[in-house]
Amino acid sequence: MYLPPISAPRLYWLVYKACIVTPLGWGQDDSSQILAAVSACGTGGTITLPAPYVYTIRKRLLMRLVGATLNVFGTLSFVPDLGYWIDESHRIEFQNQSTAWIVEGSDYIIDGGGWMQGGIEGNGQAWYGRAAGHSNQFGRPIPLTLYNSTNATVRNFSVRQSMFWNFYVQDSQDVSFTSIYLNSTNRDPAGNGSNYETNTDGINTIRVNNFLAADWVFHGGDDCLAPKGNSTNLVFRNITCTGGGVAFGSVGQYPGAPDFITNVSATDITVSQLISPAYGGGTVAGGAYFKSWVGHEEGTPPQGGGGGTGRVSNISFENLHVDNTSQGVFVNKCYFKVADQANYCDTSTFLFEDLSFSNVTGTVNGENGIGLNCSAAQPCRDIHFEGVDLLDSADNTPARVVCDNAEDVVGVKCNGTASSVTK
Ligand SMILES: *[C@@H]1O[C@H](CO)[C@@H](O)[C@H](O)[C@H]1NC(C)=O
Ligand SMILES: *[C@@H]1O[C@H](CO)[C@@H](O)[C@H](O)[C@H]1NC(C)=O
Ligand SMILES: *[C@@H]1O[C@H](CO)[C@@H](O)[C@H](O)[C@H]1NC(C)=O
Ligand SMILES: *[C@@H]1O[C@H](CO)[C@@H](O)[C@H](O)[C@H]1NC(C)=O
Ligand SMILES: *[C@@H]1O[C@H](CO)[C@@H](O)[C@H](O)[C@H]1NC(C)=O
Ligand SMILES: *[C@@H]1O[C@H](CO)[C@@H](O)[C@H](O)[C@H]1NC(C)=O
Ligand SMILES: *[C@@H]1O[C@H](CO)[C@@H](O)[C@H](O)[C@H]1NC(C)=O
Ligand SMILES: *[C@@H]1O[C@H](CO)[C@@H](O)[C@H](O)[C@H]1NC(C)=O
Ligand SMILES: *[C@@H]1O[C@H](CO)[C@@H](O)[C@H](O)[C@H]1NC(C)=O
Ligand SMILES: *[C@@H]1O[C@H](CO)[C@@H](O)[C@H](O)[C@H]1NC(C)=O
Ligand SMILES: *[C@@H]1O[C@H](CO)[C@@H](O)[C@H](O)[C@H]1NC(C)=O
Ligand SMILES: *[C@@H]1O[C@H](CO)[C@@H](O)[C@H](O)[C@H]1NC(C)=O
Repeated sequence: MYLPPISAPRLYWLVYKACIVTPLGWGQDDSSQILAAVSACGTGGTITLPAPYVYTIRKRLLMRLVGATLNVFGTLSFVPDLGYWIDESHRIEFQNQSTAWIVEGSDYIIDGGGWMQGGIEGNGQAWYGRAAGHSNQFGRPIPLTLYNSTNATVRNFSVRQSMFWNFYVQDSQDVSFTSIYLNSTNRDPAGNGSNYETNTDGINTIRVNNFLAADWVFHGGDDCLAPKGNSTNLVFRNITCTGGGVAFGSVGQYPGAPDFITNVSATDITVSQLISPAYGGGTVAGGAYFKSWVGHEEGTPPQGGGGGTGRVSNISFENLHVDNTSQGVFVNKCYFKVADQANYCDTSTFLFEDLSFSNVTGTVNGENGIGLNCSAAQPCRDIHFEGVDLLDSADNTPARVVCDNAEDVVGVKCNGTASSVTK
């Protein structure tokens, strides 16, 4: 039978490309064969790493997926070769941080295959011990970064014992992370009384538009969800966080690059603090918190900075429950890492406006349930509450609301109790 010649670009639509990778075994590095499979099938095909295999990753990964699915049903185990990752990780633009794996491209899916299986084992304990609670230690790699991606889905994906932040997304749009299980737990008794799981954030986003995070369970020692500069049109739904809450920022760290975070809808968010007597854990700042650097620049990021500006606006929370966190909702105009910046707390020109919170319940482990501690140089505006009922866990009495430079606060009484005037 005669078959007409097929031009190369069309071939790819006609031949379905499926690559299956099994591990080399005996601790041999699987990264090269995984990258080879992505080269072969990563445009219009499927790459599958079947369960229950464990794949040893000793080298940093960079892949491009276009109209493709990457099934990580087995587990990628990032070896704790600290020297390698500190020296050789990819660097990311923000805060000179590092990542072990970058995915770029469009119309792709990364599927972990089911709840609490597959995905990534970060072998993070060695990183926790090295950091010993010190924040933003250089070289700790983020296991999965999505960069320059459009229409990307990560689903049914799990990360255990992450080396650093679990996920990072930069310069991307139409991105979703659904059915996500993240658990980084310190198991070294030396962590007793402190937080060895420091910086195991769930996700940080920068310059990301149209983003969905839904159906998450998170345990870690830092922010659960942390949209940063130029994250817009975000939906957070059904997120259970232990060890960290929903952080807007930090913002205002970089002068000359204003941060805008706008159009965020967060529903059914639960945040709890759970500190192990034997292994420590993260003190949870709050359910939802907004933190801006001061208006005075000092030093360079990651530990220095400040003097940046921008706006966080049109943020709405519905059904926010906190369990023993420091506060329920708060604004911090005085975020700094350089001690002298404490003298500049009222200098931030960063604007927080049009924030609304409906059905905010639970307990806090201090006096204040809501703290609107805004800058004299730029007061917060239009902060709406409805159905607030926050109790101080010490004595089960209503927690308080404190306001400083907050204008048009509706639904709670400044310097009153954190229970709604309208309910
Ligand atoms: C990132 O941090 C490392 C280690 O401190 C330093 O050597 C490097 O110069 C920094 N890079 C940038 C761009 O700041
Ligand atoms: C997004 O990508 C998926 C495949 O991952 C594809 O089925 C879908 O058509 C894409 N959506 C758009 C709008 O291109
Ligand atoms: C997750 O995996 C389970 C089991 O395979 C499946 O039933 C479920 O639909 C998947 N969920 C998503 C969001 O892919
Ligand atoms: C982003 O990806 C597009 C293709 O999807 C490519 O043309 C462009 O060069 C990439 N940009 C960067 C900065 O890598
Ligand atoms: C996280 O893992 C620890 C230790 O394995 C376990 O005790 C804890 O229940 C897990 N947390 C969640 C939320 O699954
Ligand atoms: C919320 O997410 C959890 C974890 O993925 C899931 O088990 C539960 O079914 C989800 N709840 C709803 C109402 O979708
Ligand atoms: C955010 O976008 C504005 C332009 O709208 C730009 O000036 C600024 O540098 C961006 N900030 C970041 C952090 O990329
Ligand atoms: C916020 O949402 C409104 C309504 O959908 C839209 O008009 C506006 O462009 C969005 N803002 C941003 C920064 O995307
Ligand atoms: C605020 O954001 C929501 C989505 O979260 C959007 O529907 C609404 O139109 C936005 N409002 C304005 C004034 O842009
Ligand atoms: C935690 O450390 C303190 C001393 O630093 C010790 O007294 C206590 O027994 C330790 N707790 C546990 C549960 O190991
Ligand atoms: C308020 O939120 C709690 C948990 O966060 C939820 O159980 C309850 O159904 C919500 N109430 C309403 C009226 O939606
Ligand atoms: C709230 O109390 C503080 C002192 O705790 C005071 O400085 C401030 O003026 C009070 N604000 C209002 C609105 O009463």
